[in-house]
Amino acid sequence: MSNFNEERVLSVHHWTDSLFSFRTTRDPSFRFRNGEFTMIGLKGEGKPLLRAYSVVSANYEDELEFFSIKVPNGPLTSKLQHLQVGDPIVVSRKATGTLVLDNLMPGRHLYLLGTGTGLAPFLAIIKDPETYERFEKVVLVHGCRHVQELAYGETITETLPNHELIGEMVRDQLVYYPTVTREPFRNRGRITDLMTSGKLFADIGLPMMTKEDDRFMLCGSPDMIRDTRDLLAGAGYVEGNHGEAGHYVIEKAFVEK
Ligand code: A2P
Repeated sequence: MSNFNEERVLSVHHWTDSLFSFRTTRDPSFRFRNGEFTMIGLKGEGKPLLRAYSVVSANYEDELEFFSIKVPNGPLTSKLQHLQVGDPIVVSRKATGTLVLDNLMPGRHLYLLGTGTGLAPFLAIIKDPETYERFEKVVLVHGCRHVQELAYGETITETLPNHELIGEMVRDQLVYYPTVTREPFRNRGRITDLMTSGKLFADIGLPMMTKEDDRFMLCGSPDMIRDTRDLLAGAGYVEGNHGEAGHYVIEKAFVEK
């Protein structure tokens, strides 16, 4: 049996010249935990061209969704960005990743810190009812250079609060904090600076972070991950993984080189 399912593209949405999302069919046998990633790609001559992508859709949805950057001359994304409805796409039968609830110790507040397409795994996590059962407040921070790159803002503020399954939990427990670094916006600055200064916590009306109450998931560029991890590890927070739950977990956003 092949390690891949062949799916079909159902819709494509271009957010900017360099960001797009698409939905595909989902083989019912494909199982994953919210926050995980899988390998997807295109069949060509010879071996299929594959890259890791976090799954944006929740594991109870019938379709799969992915959020992608368009890398100029990227072997896969330069082709993927031209996807049309009905096109075939291969999706691995397996999913994996560290950004899962079980890798975190119990706490009161869950901070989901993503930059750029590092938002992707958190979209599945904020649709998971278990997230709201485990944490009193779920704070989604999305950092981008430009306002236009704050993809999914409307989904988070308009669609999810009216969602059949999780709408009420989203309304009561989810806090969305988009922040932009290179042009005017209501929230400005890097995630790391907003944490260090305490502005993030003051703006959302939660106490300064503590090891007792706060848990973090990080997904972004290698630099963002390094600096945020340094900040947390420097304050004595412990990184979690599949062996042992911790105060925080990390995953590089997958960007094609
Ligand atoms: P900045 O504009 O100050 O570089 P990128 O597109 O480079 O991945 O950046 C996405 C967002 O992440 C930008 O707002 C960027 O801010 C921010 N960022 C980049 N590097 C870091 C870092 N080391 N720590 C925190 N945020 C970062």
